[in-house]
Amino acid sequence: MLSILDFTKKKRKGEKITMITCYDYTSAVLTGKTGVDCILVGDSLAMTMHGFETTVSATTEMMALHIAAVARGATDKFIIGDMPFLSYRKALSDNMDAVQQIMQAGAHAVKLEGTAGNVGFIRHLVDSGVPVMGHIGLTPQFVHQLGGYRVQGRDDKAAKQLLQDAKALEEAGCFALVMECVPAPLAKKITESVGIATIGIGAGADTDGQVLVFQDLLGLNTEFRPKFVKQYLGGADLVTGAIDSYVEEVKTGVFPDAAYSFDAAKLAQPA
Ligand code: KIV
Repeated sequence: MLSILDFTKKKRKGEKITMITCYDYTSAVLTGKTGVDCILVGDSLAMTMHGFETTVSATTEMMALHIAAVARGATDKFIIGDMPFLSYRKALSDNMDAVQQIMQAGAHAVKLEGTAGNVGFIRHLVDSGVPVMGHIGLTPQFVHQLGGYRVQGRDDKAAKQLLQDAKALEEAGCFALVMECVPAPLAKKITESVGIATIGIGAGADTDGQVLVFQDLLGLNTEFRPKFVKQYLGGADLVTGAIDSYVEEVKTGVFPDAAYSFDAAKLAQPA
């Protein structure tokens, strides 16, 4: 299993880091059998697993339930758990309670969105033994504040701010950071300007690693297909095709045949 030290080691060696989101036990077992470096139990589960419109609907309890399932399924993967909307923007003791739930559910690190107002808390977490991954650029929990899902850091001022944010997160003790929907040249510049690993999504090829959402990578989500998503499987067609084959075979009496049925006479025979 990776440790937080490996993120920086990989960056230094120029070895790309791979991350995928994962939200349930079965997917975690499958993901655990792959060469992916780490798993993010992202608050995107509010959308992919629960059908909410935004990640704002994720709660700490929801996150903890999914993290525990993933941790049972992928026992050898480094797991990062997302802190959901506002769970780390309250009184310190409430914030710490939320982090405790996420870590005790089975996460090895937490991820939280944004920089302004988080730096002191990140330091406190790191000093308390909790590894923290930052998240800058398009931070989906800010969707209403940002006015939608838009590429961030488009002008000089915004680009400078993102660079400063990345440095502030490194300074605060983050071991890595996600950069989401940032122009590729800016993501490259930020990656070269910090010592911690950057994991990109919609941030071009020059970040230290990449992350994709499980459902997007497998082509399970047909309604949402942003430019940065590459589908490695036509999952939606495969799944609906398989279910339709099952329906057809049941209706026509093809399934279950003898191969899938118990025969009392054969069961009675000694082994
Ligand atoms: O919640 C999530 O899936 C994320 C990734 C998009 C980075 O934060």
